[in-house]
Amino acid sequence: MKRIIIVFSLFVLATTLSAQVYLDSSAPLEERISDALSRMTLQEKINMVHAQSKFSSPGVARLGIPGIWCTDGPHGIRPEVLWNEWNNANWTNDSCTAFPALIALAATWNPDLAPLYGEMLGEEALYRNKNVVLGPGVNIYRTPLNGRNFEYMGEDPLLASRMVVPYIEGLQSKGVAACVKHFALNNQEHNRHGYNVHISDRALYEIYLPAFKAAVTEGKAWSLMGAYNLYNGEHACENEYLLKKILRDEWQADLCVISDWGGAHNTDLAVRNGLDLEYGTWTNGLTINNSEYHAYMLAEPFRLGILEGRYTEQQLDEKVHNVLRLIFRTSMSTNKGFGSMVSEEHLKAAREIAAESIVLLKNEGGLLPINSNEQNLLVVGENAIKMMTVGGGSSQLKVKHEVSPLEAITLCSEHVVFERGYSSGENYIQDNVDFHEQLSDPRSAEQMKHDAVEAAKQADIVIYIGGLNKKPHQDCEDSDREQYNLPYNQDELIEALLDANKNLVVVNMSGNAVAMPWAERVPAIVQTWYLGSEGGNALADVLFGKVNPSGRLPFTVCRQLSDYPAHQFGRETYPGVSSGNYDELYYSEDIFVGYRFTDLAGQKQKTVQKLMNAKNVRPHKPLYSFGYGLSYTTFDFGKAQISGREMTKDGSLQVQIPVTNTGTRAGKEVVQLYIADLKSTLPRPLKELKAFQKVELMPGETKTVSFSITEDMLQYFNPDKHQWESEPGDFEAVIATSASDIVARLPFKLK
Ligand code: BGC
Repeated sequence: MKRIIIVFSLFVLATTLSAQVYLDSSAPLEERISDALSRMTLQEKINMVHAQSKFSSPGVARLGIPGIWCTDGPHGIRPEVLWNEWNNANWTNDSCTAFPALIALAATWNPDLAPLYGEMLGEEALYRNKNVVLGPGVNIYRTPLNGRNFEYMGEDPLLASRMVVPYIEGLQSKGVAACVKHFALNNQEHNRHGYNVHISDRALYEIYLPAFKAAVTEGKAWSLMGAYNLYNGEHACENEYLLKKILRDEWQADLCVISDWGGAHNTDLAVRNGLDLEYGTWTNGLTINNSEYHAYMLAEPFRLGILEGRYTEQQLDEKVHNVLRLIFRTSMSTNKGFGSMVSEEHLKAAREIAAESIVLLKNEGGLLPINSNEQNLLVVGENAIKMMTVGGGSSQLKVKHEVSPLEAITLCSEHVVFERGYSSGENYIQDNVDFHEQLSDPRSAEQMKHDAVEAAKQADIVIYIGGLNKKPHQDCEDSDREQYNLPYNQDELIEALLDANKNLVVVNMSGNAVAMPWAERVPAIVQTWYLGSEGGNALADVLFGKVNPSGRLPFTVCRQLSDYPAHQFGRETYPGVSSGNYDELYYSEDIFVGYRFTDLAGQKQKTVQKLMNAKNVRPHKPLYSFGYGLSYTTFDFGKAQISGREMTKDGSLQVQIPVTNTGTRAGKEVVQLYIADLKSTLPRPLKELKAFQKVELMPGETKTVSFSITEDMLQYFNPDKHQWESEPGDFEAVIATSASDIVARLPFKLK
């Protein structure tokens, strides 16, 4: 014993006396890490690879190395929770700015807004002393039932990639790490811990991985969160193929892999397959109130495994190395400031992003924008008054203020009456935070509807504000939606309002597409999202014309659920079929996700069958296409030009098209470039988004939009050779304003 104490004391003395490179912020990062690592005891290292509380993990106090504090994410900084529990700590100084949900950011189609979002969020994280924001999420929108689509960036890998990179850059410029989540294939919440995805490599690489890859290789995210689900029979947080082969070997990621909270299951796999830092594991009773952190997969079982020779210290060192890199980049960064909370600047950014995300789907007879003071307005719908920052799961926020649509509309017009129309029942209390909302109504559903309809008869314009609401099954973590139609009989209510008053504006607030059986009859439809602190103001900005809408759909809106490719094949493709231990879930639609599937409507059934290698699939034209959105002004396109008709593999072609604002208001148009491979050995979608640009134009102004086509835009993933490649032959550059609104097709050949 005496000998052990002497050796340990000498070790401590040596590590204290030798030059402390790890504390020298001017020294190269990898040298600092190696130096810190060389000073740590086995126990100190073990402590660093698992949590010490719900959201923190320790550093090494003896060496002056601080720990890591994580926070949700991704739309604002989560209120403080108790040390060992999910429940709120009831702090009074942790109210934040809620930024619009990430689906809204994607709907702006404006990558210039993403760094602003990231920076503002980073400042709030700094103020709260958080080092890692658990987001952004980039899981692809596969089904409109997925309860967390509002936290992600839509159905297209290119759109998600272009939006996620600047978000990460903005956030990390503040010294706060992004934690890209949930890697990978977490495309539904139903049974999220217990489904096992079967997917082709082609669909994995072409559809589900690109946004993660962009986040890691271009955005240089400092951390990444594994998903709950399984893939190929292994949980994603311990998945060899995802974490070792793809993330580390192919993408050369130098980030820290963090488990989702409770996503680690097996010490052996966690040790071997690349998990660095374990959080939230549900050891015996931990979720209730029991701090058994020593029992985590990467705690005692790992340490004993090393002592007993089942694992090596080298395996532990690799993980600590990644954790230290994260610490040096964040909690030990000497560049970060102090941050700020709910500043004017943050609220301004939240409002700007929110307003730019709103999508005008229909505007017959120019019902919108509303001329504020000349008309009697009736606002109907619970979402006009409900706090939308409440609920949804881990992304719930405690905001300093949230402007509701009704408040904002009332500020814009003196003639506003409100009728509830429907009620979603009691308020939803999550994590013990009661916002004291009054959501229940003593009237019967029939009475509420009747009162709204009677009021509609007296109004000049009815603004209906409904949709989903972030309660369980209504866009909320850990549960999927149970129907595609709106809940609480809203469809019936909308039809009844329409019968009473033709001047009806329907504002659908959701993070997912919803069925709109009334779409043909309603003259004006607005798709909006969970817009954050300034949501009401942003919506009013658009309704009253202060902001000209320029959001575009980040997903396809089908007429019915069965029109989505994931719902064409029965339970095998959603929600999965039980095999005993897990639900087996087959991504049989393969690469034909979203518009890649609905684009096939109108093709011969034989062609569809051949492309999709499936019999009973029936694509239908969507109600509203991916990329679609209207404006209060109009745009005209001039003649599109391409710089040549042939392209070599290392060459490029330039595409140009003039766009003119032909209306009387300034506005923004989103010009989208899709590429169509006209003949290919492997089946390919009819076209795929490869670039887009948002242009702002004054009335009468013309700007020329240019795109450069390079060979990587023509590639597909060849699963046999396990590589990206392009095939010489005929292609088209398709310029469009949505997946269905094609402006020009420019043919060219790849030599
Ligand atoms: C969610 C993550 C979240 C984590 C911490 C998990 O249940 O899936 O997205 O970041 O909890 O709250």
